[in-house]
Amino acid sequence: MGTINALNWRYATKSFDPELILEDEKIDLLKQAFNLTPTSYGLQPLKLLVISNKSLQDKLLASSFNQKQVTTASHVFVLCIEKKIDTSFIKNHFELVKEIRETPDTVLEPFRNFLIKDFSKKNDEELKQWAKNQAYLALGNMLTVCAIEKIDACPMEGFLPNKYSEILNLDDSQIEPVLVLPVGIRHKNDMFSSMKKVRRPIEDVVIDLV
Ligand SMILES: Cc1cc2nc3c(=O)[nH]c(=O)nc-3n(C[C@H](O)[C@H](O)[C@H](O)COP(=O)(O)O)c2cc1C
Repeated sequence: MGTINALNWRYATKSFDPELILEDEKIDLLKQAFNLTPTSYGLQPLKLLVISNKSLQDKLLASSFNQKQVTTASHVFVLCIEKKIDTSFIKNHFELVKEIRETPDTVLEPFRNFLIKDFSKKNDEELKQWAKNQAYLALGNMLTVCAIEKIDACPMEGFLPNKYSEILNLDDSQIEPVLVLPVGIRHKNDMFSSMKKVRRPIEDVVIDLV
């Protein structure tokens, strides 16, 4: 399947076949795609919850505006952001760089100090928005991998983050849900699968400057 064919093949799946479960290899691919997502400064202010438990999925239905994708999906990914992006979070990142690349402290220090100073100027709302931007990028990356790997998926903003936190016992944790991505195999009766893609004409959205 060519790249554009793959992107045309994927659609926001409204109904999954609840009998069909994705192989572990496919789920592992998506976990890796999530983790390989580039993030601003490489700081990865993200965590991914992977739910494969029908009774837990059923509990999420009401808090997902009754969108049945969350109950019929093989797995439900919940993309979360870190609530605490502080000096120690930034320092931990640089410790990882040091460990993996064996970069000396003297080389890392100026950039580390710059980031610590820069992030200390951001208020909670700005930090949250910055982290959320990274989650959207991860969502896009995962959707593209879904298209290439023929995994059906539905990106979702339509859910109640506070309720999800309650149901998933995240209230005392350092993470907060921001996006949901149910994945699985489309149900043969999902009428959306045969609908034409609705996109603005390419001439309207792309401006070639020559
Ligand atoms: C960030 C984001 C949030 C979305 N939230 C929902 C959602 O809550 N429920 C839903 O059914 N579709 C949701 N969608 C799917 C879009 O409606 C869909 O991608 C768009 O209409 C284009 O259709 P296509 O993906 O089938 O090509 C969302 C898409 C994105 C990118």
